[in-house]
Amino acid sequence: MAYLNENYLNVKESYLFSEIAKRVSSFTEANPDKKVIRMGIGDVTLPLEPLVIEALHRAVDEMGNAATFRGYGPEQGYAFLREAIQQYYSRGGVSLDMDEIFVSDGAKSDLGNITDLFSIENVALIPDPVYPVYVDTNIMSGRKIVYMNANAENGFLPMPDDRVHGDMIYLCSPNNPTGAVYNKQQLKAWVDYANAHEAIILFDAAYESFIGDDSLPRSIFQIEGAKTCAIEFCSLSKTAGFTGTRCGYTVVPKQLKKKTCDGKELYMNKMWNRRQTTKFNGVPYIIQKGAAAVFSVEGMKQAHEMIAYYKQNAKIIADALSEKGIKFFGGVHSPYIWMECPKGMLSWDFFDYLLSKAAVVGTPGAGFGVNGEGFFRLTSFGNRENTMEAMERIKKLL
Ligand code: MLT
Repeated sequence: MAYLNENYLNVKESYLFSEIAKRVSSFTEANPDKKVIRMGIGDVTLPLEPLVIEALHRAVDEMGNAATFRGYGPEQGYAFLREAIQQYYSRGGVSLDMDEIFVSDGAKSDLGNITDLFSIENVALIPDPVYPVYVDTNIMSGRKIVYMNANAENGFLPMPDDRVHGDMIYLCSPNNPTGAVYNKQQLKAWVDYANAHEAIILFDAAYESFIGDDSLPRSIFQIEGAKTCAIEFCSLSKTAGFTGTRCGYTVVPKQLKKKTCDGKELYMNKMWNRRQTTKFNGVPYIIQKGAAAVFSVEGMKQAHEMIAYYKQNAKIIADALSEKGIKFFGGVHSPYIWMECPKGMLSWDFFDYLLSKAAVVGTPGAGFGVNGEGFFRLTSFGNRENTMEAMERIKKLL
């Protein structure tokens, strides 16, 4: 008899963005003549930057030549990419050893896979609302979750509370879905809490490149003390349009050590290396060549041109909402606008209303947690024309 993981009974029937895709496809089947504008999942629309395309082409040619062909690569990523990431951090004032950087196929996978390293006895401390991956992966492992309220009162930035116990703390800044950003003092409070409680911060920095203010932290490792209590997850999906190309990286400091339940000390860098070499065979060489191009000075310049384009879309969304007197958060250091549902509507009701009346897709706040009820997320990752048209439709409807 093969027994199944009963924890799967406790996750929602479908993943948030799959549920949205299902509803949108039944709408389009029933209304083939309607032009649907998608501002739901945070998927990019601009093509890859020229420097990346050139690097990909060169790498494809290398793979077609016996002298430069590559088979299995290092599970942790090729040295050329790890070095490029190391230099990127160094330009931001963070010094990392190359073997603290692990290249992967994206932050989502690593955020899910990292749960392998932790005992089931841990309590996961997770903000609400939140990117559903943190919650779902911990439910799948059967771990206890304690939620921290993120709301308009705390600017959607929950702070540590010594009365609340958590071992694995999930933080995402700039935040998905709310667009809120922790400042250095606030992150320092989290680092101090984690060090004092021997907890770990799992820091999702997937949106760091949207930060437009140098006083705000782009990496948890800009905060003193973070190397003894944090792992950072990042990705090129939103930085350089790699949602379909797949490349991310995770930083596990070498000095980071925690204990097993019976008190044995283990280094997490070694554990993650062991996990990755066993369960992962690395990101394709071609993709890593494309990713390395992003981290060059010129590559980052081209990436920032794309980010500026999306930020201009965010401004168009924000201006339209302001014109209608609708309250919203985010959209400045983030591609996401977190708006209040008009007329006190529930978020899935507003989703259906907007889809059926304006053929515009967003993400219902309730999909991100209980505190997301009454809110709605719009992304700025669409093209300019569609973003403008969607906001015209929304203005007319509301
Ligand atoms: C989102 O829309 O929240 C993101 O695109 C999801 C992701 O990055 O996996």
